[in-house]
Amino acid sequence: LASIEVDVSSLEPGMSLTAKWRGKPIFIRNRTPEEVKAADEVPLSDLKDPVARNANLPSDAQATGVDRSAGKDKENWIVMIGSCTHLGCIPLGQAGEYNGWFCPCHGSVYDTAGRIRKGPAPQNLAIPTYSFISDKVIKIG
Ligand code: FES
Repeated sequence: LASIEVDVSSLEPGMSLTAKWRGKPIFIRNRTPEEVKAADEVPLSDLKDPVARNANLPSDAQATGVDRSAGKDKENWIVMIGSCTHLGCIPLGQAGEYNGWFCPCHGSVYDTAGRIRKGPAPQNLAIPTYSFISDKVIKIG
């Protein structure tokens, strides 16, 4: 399938689901205000990969909290390809030192915006092309 539509109406803040798109897991999370705040407070200079890696933005967009999210008025939402940028294992959610994602294969640690903070992975978790087609439905691809 070229694109999929995912109903996210059941996701309260702090809840996630994993969809499947083009054979890959897609992590969709309704982040808590604390998670959003934690991501926003990180200076770009602390990031191993300062690039947003967000297919919906220019390729040189920076990895700010908002540019890793679904945008200013939907900053609670984060949508990412669930494939570690080291060797492609599937990271575990709400785990690791930054309470974001943790890859058990070789210990890569991602923060609440899916940005690589420690370990061997070179890049932030990739963000696929997506959009909200209603308040409750995300189209991926
Ligand atoms: Fe994730 Fe190696 S595949 S740390």
